[in-house]
Amino acid sequence: MKLNIKKICCIGAGYVGGPTMAVIADKCPEIQVTLVDLNAERIAAWNSADLGELPIYEPGLSEIIERTRHKNLFFSTQVDKAIEEAEMIFISVNTPTKNYGVGKGMAADLKYIELCARQIARVSKSGKIVVEKSTIPVRTAATIKSILEDAEGGLEFHVLSNPEFLAEGSAISDLIDPDRILIGGESDEAIQALKDIYQRWVNPDKILTTNLWSSELSKLTANAFLAQRVSSINAISELCEKTGANVDEVATAIGMDSRIGSKFLKASVGFGGSCFQKDILNLVYIARTYNLTEVADYWEQVILMNDHQKSRFANHIVNTLFNTVNGKRIAMLGWAFKKDTNDTRESAAIYVADHLLTEMAQLAVYDPKVSASKIYQDIDAISTRSSEENRDLLSVHLNPYEACRGAHAVAILTEWDEFKEIDWQTIKDNMLNPAFLFDGRRLLDRKEMENLGFKYYTLGE
Ligand code: UDX
Ligand code: ADP
Repeated sequence: MKLNIKKICCIGAGYVGGPTMAVIADKCPEIQVTLVDLNAERIAAWNSADLGELPIYEPGLSEIIERTRHKNLFFSTQVDKAIEEAEMIFISVNTPTKNYGVGKGMAADLKYIELCARQIARVSKSGKIVVEKSTIPVRTAATIKSILEDAEGGLEFHVLSNPEFLAEGSAISDLIDPDRILIGGESDEAIQALKDIYQRWVNPDKILTTNLWSSELSKLTANAFLAQRVSSINAISELCEKTGANVDEVATAIGMDSRIGSKFLKASVGFGGSCFQKDILNLVYIARTYNLTEVADYWEQVILMNDHQKSRFANHIVNTLFNTVNGKRIAMLGWAFKKDTNDTRESAAIYVADHLLTEMAQLAVYDPKVSASKIYQDIDAISTRSSEENRDLLSVHLNPYEACRGAHAVAILTEWDEFKEIDWQTIKDNMLNPAFLFDGRRLLDRKEMENLGFKYYTLGE
């Protein structure tokens, strides 16, 4: 086995693979990094001469792509070729929640991971280190290993788990300055080969090695704990609304306890993103598989609370607008699941929109980074109504002023910085009266908004 890594291949050029490989290429100029994907359109976008056309928006990403692309970072659809040439292969494909069969709606669908393992086994002419990057259930490495062990020619493969902890919107800084790098594996040599790559820019003290299963489970656990904090503060936000407490004041007060810490205590309309819900569902499914009913029920509650937060926000809008939004124009500011990303997976906005559309509201949506086609695709994917009806009821706008013109209410769903800079006086002047403003992100200042004449509601006070 050759452990001096000169060529890396990453299968899956998505939100995880793209930024991760860009940073590795930038930090290791002597290593050739090839990102491959079956999706030719996505690869073409990564190769686009116009850096504004990259398929993923992340602050700082385009600068790195500009420095490394066609030098030691390549994007290609030739998956077999890249696998064959590389000594180390990262698997960074999507692992959506299963929407069929056993484990439907709970378990992760591992078909893409399995296909990758089979492809690596089929194509390889030399032994390789295979690194799991995708979020996966515990013991997935066992599946990959057993497929690779059956590869012809008795080649030596080592499987490592190296979960990604980057958060979207801050992916590049998370990759450059991570809290820790986690590597799980059985072969010291393989672990060292991956460590050697990270050590070029990460302090060795921050590189933690564990067995495979601890590494896999740590990723799920980290996301479950983070999501749990959001659901916990969201639960308190509802209580604040009843008791006269202010959720930010409570968050600050508890966050100063060093045992609790101040991060991830921002009440919101609900967490979204590709990981939190999927990983908790995974955890719940695994616990149920082992008949750990109390463990499963405990974690499931985090998701139930999140669903409750989204529907209670939508219900509050309907109730406040005199119990009907039928035919009323409601502007929705923000569609992404958080600021600084164009990713909309599991975004709370989608569920709030669906709820309001079911109540026959006329929605006018604006998001600075999400395209109209993506917005329609997301709302169509829920399959609550036909796509014609969705187009009749929902319109997408190029700026917030247009979206809010003539509206009965404005709802803020994503905490984009630019929403703080909006000329809210102009927005108010062009709305119907009473002008309702529902702040699902606690983004604006109550006094200021009330002085402008808005009927202002924010979660948690
Ligand atoms: C998350 C993890 O943070 C990251 O480590 C992991 O690798 C992938 O999943 P991400 O989903 O990109 O990252 O975003 P994150 O910043 O964690 O936010 C997730 C959701 O929680 C967002 O919808 C965000 O708006 C919401 N959130 C976060 C809150 O509502 N309140 C908070 O205090 C923090
Ligand atoms: P993540 O957030 O985990 O990065 P994405 O959906 O953004 O998820 O990216 C995963 C990528 O993996 C997609 O672009 C998809 O086309 C790609 N992919 C899935 N299966 C394969 C495969 N067998 N070979 C190559 N690419 C694949």
